Amino acid sequence: MNNFDRIAPVYDLLAGIVFGKSIRRAQTLFLKEIPQGGHVLVLGGGTGWLLAELLSLNPNCKVVYIDASLKMVEMAKKKAEGSNNVFFVHGTENSVPRGIEFDAIITHFYLDLFGQESCTKVVSLIRSSCHHRTLWLACDFMNRTWWHSAMLCVMYRFFRVMTSLNVREFPEWKKSIRQSGFVEISSKDFSKGFISSALFQLGGVSGQN
Ligand SMILES: C[S@@+](CC[C@H](N)C(=O)[O-])C[C@H]1O[C@@H](n2cnc3c(N)ncnc32)[C@H](O)[C@@H]1O
Repeated sequence: MNNFDRIAPVYDLLAGIVFGKSIRRAQTLFLKEIPQGGHVLVLGGGTGWLLAELLSLNPNCKVVYIDASLKMVEMAKKKAEGSNNVFFVHGTENSVPRGIEFDAIITHFYLDLFGQESCTKVVSLIRSSCHHRTLWLACDFMNRTWWHSAMLCVMYRFFRVMTSLNVREFPEWKKSIRQSGFVEISSKDFSKGFISSALFQLGGVSGQN
């Protein structure tokens, strides 16, 4: 299993250096679509900067925040100080509490941590915690051209060394989400198409944007 503890203190800085402001714009794009006071599942949430944004836009939402890195969870807890609405879990997709049907799922730069087969399994696991109109906010890399492949190759090597991440194939994460019954109702590209921020909904109407 991967371990992001080592790079947790510098993760946001590195992301900012490589992708500038676009990586944050991509991740916050659809936050306002989450229903006020809704149940939100954040998987692989990282340092928690996005959690702070979510809580300021939607102070009454009830969040389950899961990350496999203890350091990341500790950092995220500090960002949510003062809010009693976040349940932090040091764990993985297998730790999602049973019995909650989430109104929104957030997986930013998370599904790319799995090969295709595992990605599809993880998506279907998450799907089992959704109701018939759940929103899924997913922001991740795309592999559309030669330089995207080159960047992914460099990044996976970096993460293999720093976190023991062992992914050999980049997953078609949008396809996995669609195959589980979600419809992509809106999306926007960032960083020359290397990053896509997408909003899916179960049973949604496609082609709204
Ligand atoms: C690439 S970082 C993205 C962090 C954050 N979502 C962002 O975009 O800034 C991936 C995060 O997922 C966590 N992670 C890795 N594997 C995981 C798993 N199976 N379940 C939950 N979290 C995981 C890592 O610890 C790390 O914090």
